[in-house]
Amino acid sequence: MDTQIAADTVNADRPDDVRDALGRPLHDLRISLLDRCNFRCPYCMPETEFHADFQFLRKNQLLSHGEILKIASVAVSLGVTKLRLTGGEPLLDKQVGGLIESLAALKGVHDLALTTNGMLLGPKATALAEAGLNRVTISLDSLDAEIFRLMSGNRGNLDQVLEGIAAAERAGLAPIKINTVVQRGVNDHTVIDLLEHFRGTGHIVRLIEYMDVGNRNGWKMDQVVPSLELLGRVQEHWPLRAIGRSYPGEVARRYEYVDGAGEIGFISSVTEPFCGACSRARLSADGVLYTCLFATSGTNLREPLRNGADDAELADILSRIWLQRADRYSELRTPGVADGHAPSKVEMYRIGG
Ligand code: GTP
Ligand code: 5AD
Ligand code: SF4
Ligand code: SF4
Repeated sequence: MDTQIAADTVNADRPDDVRDALGRPLHDLRISLLDRCNFRCPYCMPETEFHADFQFLRKNQLLSHGEILKIASVAVSLGVTKLRLTGGEPLLDKQVGGLIESLAALKGVHDLALTTNGMLLGPKATALAEAGLNRVTISLDSLDAEIFRLMSGNRGNLDQVLEGIAAAERAGLAPIKINTVVQRGVNDHTVIDLLEHFRGTGHIVRLIEYMDVGNRNGWKMDQVVPSLELLGRVQEHWPLRAIGRSYPGEVARRYEYVDGAGEIGFISSVTEPFCGACSRARLSADGVLYTCLFATSGTNLREPLRNGADDAELADILSRIWLQRADRYSELRTPGVADGHAPSKVEMYRIGG
């Protein structure tokens, strides 16, 4: 897909789009295919909690691909132009190619992306591209083998992930983005090496402030490296120049290396929240629709679907949810909430970020 065309058409406002209580359109649907993952990143699925006996969703609790397609097509009729498949780890779904083929055929979808930890990407990249996937985003927190091992919960193989990235490049799943969650004292000292590796490759590294998603990662503010601090550290090595966003509601602040080695991004949900333009809804693998990454509750769409709701009824349910939406968690983040004294938030592994 031509990136420039995508940038111009993805998330472009249309006058008749459904808008929430704060005037934000619904442009972006993120679909979690399953709650399982082959990693145990301590900040997302700590091994102590997600052990061999953990009860993941059963097959009949998961939305079928037909059900996902139905919800996606209704969402597209309400203004969604961008779909992202997530997990857990979406490539654990062996039929993901078939779903991509059907989603890619929906008229109105301008951007079809997938977020993966990259472990299973190598052998699948070509088939995913042929099925109609436009691009992939790979989560990769460090190129230091020992830190990578720790941050994947002792499950990841760095060479295999790098081969996955190379395969995605060969398959044309571009622009390839690398998501790097930065935690102070854990991997922040390896960020420069990671940037050095990807400079000049055309892949876009995005440095992400560690967030207080879910309730299980024991998040503390002092583990966050503010983007401004990181920006300073990067500029000590390579001068950067700010560039404009590529579509409305983009979460990353974009920069380019002045020496022409490409683009990097900073995602600053903690220090510079971006709720004002947030046009995202998230569908969990068991069919609950969440209107914020930090939501404490969502709306079950699986039940009406399995009770025979038709497209018009589903569209009615979806637009009602969106019309009354007023979420802006990151802008309202309070110490009480971040310290876990608030109602349980949805876990990241259920909605894939
Ligand atoms: P592009 O479509 O390539 O621009 O990426 P994206 O905006 O879909 O971002 P992606 O899903 O790769 O997420 C990158 C990081 O930003 C992850 O850590 C996400 O959890 C975080 N993030 C994405 N969307 C939101 C959001 O709506 N709110 C907050 N607070 N964080 C978000
Ligand atoms: N803070 C920031 N990003 C996170 N991700 C997972 N947990 C967190 C967190 N606590 C990232 C993953 C992935 C993306 C979907 O979300 O690394 O790249
Ligand atoms: Fe899996 Fe991604 Fe969570 Fe890591 S962050 S455990 S790769 S879903
Ligand atoms: Fe959107 Fe919620 Fe993230 Fe704000 S905190 S940008 S409303 S998902």
